[in-house]
Amino acid sequence: MTVSATATIDAAAPAFPIPAGVFAQEVTEVQHYTDRLFRFRMTRPDGFRFRSGEFVMIGLPNAEKPVYRAYSIASPAWDEELEFFSIKVPDGPLTEHLQKVQPGDTVLMRKKSTGTLVADALLPGKRLYLFSTGTGIAPFASVARDPDIYEKFETVVITHTCRTEAELAYGRELVDNILSDELMREFAGGKLLLHSTATREGAAKGERVTTLIETGKLFEDLGLPPLDPETDRAMICGSMDMLKETASLMERFGLVEGSNSSPGTYVVERAFVD
Ligand SMILES: Cc1cc2nc3c(=O)[nH]c(=O)nc-3n(C[C@H](O)[C@H](O)[C@H](O)COP(=O)(O)OP(=O)(O)OC[C@H]3O[C@@H](n4cnc5c(N)ncnc54)[C@H](O)[C@@H]3O)c2cc1C
Ligand SMILES: NC(=O)c1ccc[n+]([C@@H]2O[C@H](COP(=O)([O-])OP(=O)(O)OC[C@H]3O[C@@H](n4cnc5c(N)ncnc54)[C@H](OP(=O)(O)O)[C@@H]3O)[C@@H](O)[C@H]2O)c1
Repeated sequence: MTVSATATIDAAAPAFPIPAGVFAQEVTEVQHYTDRLFRFRMTRPDGFRFRSGEFVMIGLPNAEKPVYRAYSIASPAWDEELEFFSIKVPDGPLTEHLQKVQPGDTVLMRKKSTGTLVADALLPGKRLYLFSTGTGIAPFASVARDPDIYEKFETVVITHTCRTEAELAYGRELVDNILSDELMREFAGGKLLLHSTATREGAAKGERVTTLIETGKLFEDLGLPPLDPETDRAMICGSMDMLKETASLMERFGLVEGSNSSPGTYVVERAFVD
């Protein structure tokens, strides 16, 4: 009797103590999209505040000194839970373990959020472009679910470029859910547009967003005029190369990079460190 009770307690105890100064949250939901992509939701710490579009550092209680990685919060600032959209890197120090989380498991989160993909870093405008590749759509899942953004902009366009059709599912589901939600539709209906392309295969086969901007096909597809620094604002999130190329296109159209301390007409953030 005593032995089995002890065994039960031991099995439930975390293998390592929760480090001081971090939040320990419970996973509530997990959804896998492909062998490289999944999303999960977890409880939101009491009193934890952030701006839609910011990122935090997350880790797992699986070592004395856990590995922390930057993650964009994919849920909006008003949500009672936190959502993340994640890559699964084979042998990745964090994601080889993170991809196995189940509801009830613990995820660690450092206490401070930060980032430049926030409405505060942009000057007022008419249209907002959210340019993303791969998991770079995560911060825009937060921004696009925040009613405030539709108070600030008449049109919000998410562009999502991935290698394969299956990798576009998260973005499509996001926009479908926003537009089918009665409350969100009031804000986003007729204002939120999604342009997604798969560069390597699938029914949505198309060009990289950089090519679509350069040729003007993006604006033709959307029925919108070419970028104009008077009216258009942009946020960019993707690999280092994608950021560089998209930012240089923004500059060509006359947009100027902004930051929290000095708002501009476009802002950038890395979706991962190459
Ligand atoms: C500001 C910021 C925000 C981020 N937000 C997210 C997010 O919301 N979701 C997310 O999945 N990752 C995000 N990342 C990347 C994340 O921090 C980790 O790199 C990722 O979780 C992999 O961790 P790892 O320890 O398993 O592998 P790492 O050692 O961190 O990465 C190994 C290699 O995998 C590749 N890689 C890493 N992350 C990605 C990715 N997201 N997409 C494609 N290739 C990748 C890179 O080539 C990298 O060198 C963000 C990074 C930064 C800097
Ligand atoms: N093992 C696998 O099966 C596998 C599969 C995919 C990725 N990976 C690895 O995972 C990492 C990230 O892959 P990922 O697919 O998430 O990201 P990625 O290589 O950055 O590609 C994501 C999307 O962005 C496009 N893109 C790439 N560079 C761009 C640029 N400079 N401007 C505009 N668009 C650009 C890609 O188009 P293109 O298709 O034209 O490149 C693709 O559609 C890479 O290191 C890759 O080697 C492995």
